Amino acid sequence: MQSQNTNQNTTNFIKSANSSRGYADVLIGLQYGDEGKARVVDLFAKDYDIVARFNGGANAGHSLVYNDIKLALNQVPAGIFYPDMLLYIGSGCVVNIVKLAKEIQKVEAVGIKLKGRLHISSQCTIIQPHHILIDSMTGGSIGTTKNGIGPAYSDKARRMSEDRIVNIRIGALHHEPEAYFDLVKENYIKESAIAGVSVTDVNDQINELKTAFNLIKEYIQVDTLWMQKQVQNGKKVLFEGAQSIMLDVNKGAIPFVTSSSTIASSAYCGGDLSVNYHRKVIGVAKALMSRVGNGPFTSEFGGHQSEVYCQSTQTDGTPTYTQGLEKNYEISTLLVSDDEFELGKALRVLSFEYGVVSTRPRRIGKLDMVQLKYACLMNGVDELVITKFDMLNVYAKTKLNQAPFITKYTLNNREIDFIPSSSSSYYKTIGTQENMPIFAKDIREIRKLNDLPKEGQDIVDFIQSYTGCKVVGLGVGPERDQYIKID
Ligand code: GDP
Ligand code: IMO
Ligand code: MG
Repeated sequence: MQSQNTNQNTTNFIKSANSSRGYADVLIGLQYGDEGKARVVDLFAKDYDIVARFNGGANAGHSLVYNDIKLALNQVPAGIFYPDMLLYIGSGCVVNIVKLAKEIQKVEAVGIKLKGRLHISSQCTIIQPHHILIDSMTGGSIGTTKNGIGPAYSDKARRMSEDRIVNIRIGALHHEPEAYFDLVKENYIKESAIAGVSVTDVNDQINELKTAFNLIKEYIQVDTLWMQKQVQNGKKVLFEGAQSIMLDVNKGAIPFVTSSSTIASSAYCGGDLSVNYHRKVIGVAKALMSRVGNGPFTSEFGGHQSEVYCQSTQTDGTPTYTQGLEKNYEISTLLVSDDEFELGKALRVLSFEYGVVSTRPRRIGKLDMVQLKYACLMNGVDELVITKFDMLNVYAKTKLNQAPFITKYTLNNREIDFIPSSSSSYYKTIGTQENMPIFAKDIREIRKLNDLPKEGQDIVDFIQSYTGCKVVGLGVGPERDQYIKID
């Protein structure tokens, strides 16, 4: 009897899946994060019913510019501007409840309603106070965002410490608040003691968490099949990746990575949907690359000197070289410098590359084609979007007066066509540079490929032929309509 029922259910599932089933597309970053994923999600979301996050947490900083509204989202999916769009935070995410409550208020303050639209998987792991404490003590050499991401994912894998459950899901707080808030408290006291710290803010932390939880609990989705049912019934999903392949815990150069799996194939696990609904992968890359935090970055302007400079902090932990300080530099002089470290500073100021979450100066690099091709292969990218294409004209003001690209990797005198598996090898990898003619024109008002200067069209052809991926669009500014759609 049991097996007959199961067969019946399976048959029903396949039937309905074949008739009016929906599908999912996955949009991910192809470099070191901050590729402009959110602004592309915002543009593409009109063709979907659900925008869903599947990894990461408040470490993500996703900027949106729409009409007069400028917002940086951390945990709320970027489909907010479409009033009927459903928003889902999948079980692969780690949720900072206090920050999420504030973010919801921030979004609602600009007139956007989230009630009935936002769904948080009850299987999401929560960030606990001891996660943030430990990250702030130990994350410095990686350059983490200090959001407790690594310790939370560690506890997810660790499951228990001594006799205590350390992976607490948001659904547990929902079902048994008393017991689980007590556990969060106990974890804070005991894990901080293990770390050698005596904490004095235990009650404040727990009270803050309880207050925030009351604000977000209506968004918790207890049906663990919710996403599956939505898509089975015809809904179309756009998965919104956070971070990127080079920060992936499996693929990136450890330890300079985040702690979640960021690549396209992880969308289904962390986004709570079976893989048979997958349709295509959209990869986003930035014409002028950036990286925030430590770690190898072969195409970086100024190499190690830039890495140290950008990560430099004052005694209170705030960045030494802020946007406010750097904008006073003599940009026209730096732009024509022979020293790539100085040139990198100018490019950062002109392209506003400062961390959304940490305000750190982002390290700037040439478009690395070897890395991009690797990212396209590993993610199975079907469609490529290049953002910040409008920024390429800054190269016309440099001494080189051409656009530089890294087109070959050499490690220990041998050419390689992959990303080395260790940071020490990746640091030793030498990139070979090739240059292409560049346009000086301001292209922010251009909306058709044919209207782009020839040098720009040639760069699109070059990217396509090098990566083997179709370029479907170019960002020519941060606003939704500043985009060239390529058919
Ligand atoms: P995400 O984390 O991948 O969503 O990207 P971020 O929001 O952290 O960083 C991307 C930055 O580039 C933001 O400041 C965007 O407003 C900006 N941006 C995105 N696309 C473009 C573009 O095509 N041109 C320009 N000039 N800026 C862009
Ligand atoms: P979005 O989604 C860029 C970086 C941090 C650090 C490393 C580990 O906006 O692209 P973590 O706090 O995750 O333990 O930090 O990863 N990092 C990001 N860099 N964009 C992000 O997200 C990032 N999220 C984490 O700077 O080097
Ligand atoms: Mg970002």
